[in-house]
Amino acid sequence: MSDRLYIFDTTLRDGEQSPGCSMNIDEKMRVAHALAALGVDIIEAGFPIASPGDFEAVYRIASEVEGPHIAGLARASARDIERAAEAVKPAGDRGRIHTFIATSPIHMQAKLRMTPEQVLERAVDAVRLARSLVPEVEFSAEDAGRSKMDFLCRIVEGAIAAGARVINIPDTVGYMTPDEFGERIRTLIERVPNSDQAIFSVHCHNDLGLAVANSLAAVEYGARQVECTINGLGERAGNASLEEIVMILRTRTDRYDIETGIDTKRIVPTSKLVSQITGMPVQPNKAIVGANAFAHESGIHQDGMLKHQKTYEIMTPESVGWNTNRMVLGKHSGRAALRARYEALGVELDAERLNDVFERFKVLADKKKDIFDEDLLAILSEETEVDIERVKLVSLHAASGTGDTPVAAVELDIEGETHKATAEGDGPVDAAFKAIKSLVEPNGQLLLYSVNAITSGTDAQGEVTVRLKDGERIVNGQGSDTDIVVASAKALISALNKLPNMHAREVHAQYSGV
Ligand code: KIV
Ligand code: ZN
Repeated sequence: MSDRLYIFDTTLRDGEQSPGCSMNIDEKMRVAHALAALGVDIIEAGFPIASPGDFEAVYRIASEVEGPHIAGLARASARDIERAAEAVKPAGDRGRIHTFIATSPIHMQAKLRMTPEQVLERAVDAVRLARSLVPEVEFSAEDAGRSKMDFLCRIVEGAIAAGARVINIPDTVGYMTPDEFGERIRTLIERVPNSDQAIFSVHCHNDLGLAVANSLAAVEYGARQVECTINGLGERAGNASLEEIVMILRTRTDRYDIETGIDTKRIVPTSKLVSQITGMPVQPNKAIVGANAFAHESGIHQDGMLKHQKTYEIMTPESVGWNTNRMVLGKHSGRAALRARYEALGVELDAERLNDVFERFKVLADKKKDIFDEDLLAILSEETEVDIERVKLVSLHAASGTGDTPVAAVELDIEGETHKATAEGDGPVDAAFKAIKSLVEPNGQLLLYSVNAITSGTDAQGEVTVRLKDGERIVNGQGSDTDIVVASAKALISALNKLPNMHAREVHAQYSGV
């Protein structure tokens, strides 16, 4: 009998803490449904005390997403815990509070300004309170990797005695090496007298590129929950990547006799969904989900592959969801086929939403012969932004050519009124951006502009991500179209729509009439 490893996905909490990765509620709902379809055991849906938006996201996920347990993060304080309990309540028996406090000397002294005894007492009180409010409590000793082993053992014992049934050992700053970290888990399980009453979990950050290796070392020494994220998103260098952990366990069954509940064929579609929503591209050579992860370039490799796939592939691309998504939908496809394809991607559409999406699908199918999963996800990204659109693109004309100064003319609908501007630029995209920005304020500082062809072929849709900074706020926008300049304009407008208080600008004379 093989053992079971619980997959705790924190894409919506730690992942969302990556700079520029914040998601709106609709986007979080889409990710949460996709995670449920992927088969994760626990979704950490957010940090309810952090903001009303975070609270609402956790509450809605707890209300609407079936299957996984739903966790809300809380510091070890009564206010945080009560708020988290309220947010996860709709999940009933599947509701979990994940409460944490730092246990390393540097964090206790410099950040918390508390003695170890005070931290211990706070942790025990927090777990006890959480346990009185929800069925499941997880306790994390933040910065456990740099904590003193004796103290860690005491606080873990206290948390279990107070009712925590999951004990999470985070390597918060990604400092550990695999042998040290595995040893830490082994020692805790051996030395803590009531360790048999809890599942041990790990949460590794990737500052030294060891998050996955450290998580696996912990699993070898008895951890049975791993906290991870899609595409390895997360604070700084990110968290352990879900797809890597799951596929190592599945590929190396000779070494690990441990199963997960993940439907591996959904890994690539989920990765694409998260990348599209967060605007965080996946590097092409990323294991499992990078565009080149199964590409064979050199002649020797291609020759080997033609003779036997196993010469250079240790898992098949199909097993993680590559190539299975080459379902060709086109302009003759109907609603039923469209709905079925979305279901396969983990997206449920009610009749009204299906109608909306179907209209957009038909418009795209007129421009592009074959519609792939990536196109369907792109259609959805635009569709979910409709209700928060204060600015809409009405028309865009851009002209450029060798020897000519690129120029763009845009017409925007800003809260129901038409505004027009024309601008010159270094290229057609630059001209379009200048024209659009001349019409609204605040219009943010451009931090990132990236273009991806989301399928192959010259009729592929270009998918553009724009990241803007306005004061402390960083927002992402995406746009896709078969015309790159239009895709860019849509991406900029989608980012602008996420800036609070964005409105029509009074004066834009410097750009008009070029
Ligand atoms: O990295 C960390 O320590 C965390 C905790 C809140 C679990 O994210
Ligand atoms: Zn973390």
